[in-house]
Amino acid sequence: MIVEIEKLDHFGRGITTINNKICFVENALPKEIVKIKIVTEKKKYLVSEVEKIIKESKDRVTPSCPYATICGGCHLEHLSFNKENEFKEQKVKEIIERFAKISQDLVKDIIFDKPYHYRNKITLHKEKNQIGLYEKKTNHLIPIKNCKLVMDELNKELTKLSISSQKEIVLRVGNKTGEILNSTTNQKSIISYIGNKKYRVSEKSFFQVNNIITEKLYNEIKKIIKEKNGTNILDLYCGTGTIGIYVSDDVKKVMGIESYKEAIEDAKYNKELNHSKNCSYILGKVEDLTKEITKEFDVAIIDPPRSGLHKKVVESLLEIIPKTLIYISCDPVTLGRDLNLLKQKYTIEYIRPYNMFPRTYHVETLTLLTRK
Ligand SMILES: C[S@@+](CC[C@H](N)C(=O)[O-])C[C@H]1O[C@@H](n2cnc3c(N)ncnc32)[C@H](O)[C@@H]1O
Repeated sequence: MIVEIEKLDHFGRGITTINNKICFVENALPKEIVKIKIVTEKKKYLVSEVEKIIKESKDRVTPSCPYATICGGCHLEHLSFNKENEFKEQKVKEIIERFAKISQDLVKDIIFDKPYHYRNKITLHKEKNQIGLYEKKTNHLIPIKNCKLVMDELNKELTKLSISSQKEIVLRVGNKTGEILNSTTNQKSIISYIGNKKYRVSEKSFFQVNNIITEKLYNEIKKIIKEKNGTNILDLYCGTGTIGIYVSDDVKKVMGIESYKEAIEDAKYNKELNHSKNCSYILGKVEDLTKEITKEFDVAIIDPPRSGLHKKVVESLLEIIPKTLIYISCDPVTLGRDLNLLKQKYTIEYIRPYNMFPRTYHVETLTLLTRK
């Protein structure tokens, strides 16, 4: 069957319509004419594979990675980086309009940097005597010698890996220090820099994967706090204390809440490491600690996992209403859902997409909200 691709869906798959049914076509780009084979037929949609590209898009590029079509890590290796950035900006606009029910005009231009060798972390899998990454949507191991997304230091470490008893191997590299964390060795933490702040990061603690984009994102947060004369800062879902410590020189106090014990231990260590005497940390789930969200705080930075905010946290933010909310999100859908609730009491000033994860369909955003 020969079809024309209409657009990309939010996972970077081509979409076409066949007999009034939506059909997903992986590895196909808008305006391309492709010969496809239907591989799945469901009541509401079809899934197909490209057999032949008959008319190629001018935005198509030849993937530079030998594993591009099989590995599940990159979804947009066949699209030019310019168009990838446009796709992500448009994706945020469409999702926000649909879920937050606000104008697309609130979405600003995307911030991006280099497309490759940006990741400071890789998680590898081991099977029998081989180490690699999983094939798309399966647990089939593809042995790899190199990953184009990760920093050179990690690719070097990858070539030195010997087969250990661990099924999952985590490698991390510290920004500016070059320290390597390798979960098969005894080095269980590293020091990494963002700007002039340094952070201890343990094996399983969260740390943003893209150093350059993280610094740009944190600088925007710092700028907002300065402009708003922020004094008492809540750092919810604080991880290793990164954001709060980053802005701590400009404010009176920072209080962070985080549920992962190892991360909060890192945060307490990082406070000492940076002489940030005005920072304090509490271990626990934000939704169980809403009594800590008090009127004393004029700024709340919220950086939840993909699932977004717990209902109780939204309720508390609607009750206490800190003057400024800075919401960092890696999932525009849950962000949209939460903004739709928060907009009762807050004005959404703008949403800024950041291309934290080039060559994948994922996108990070910063949203600035102010009390109405
Ligand atoms: C996206 S990360 C942000 C971390 C940090 N703000 C940063 O930029 O490095 C989300 C963090 O929320 C933590 N977390 C997940 N669910 C939580 C909850 N219910 N309450 C508190 N922290 C939670 C995770 O352990 C993780 O450290």
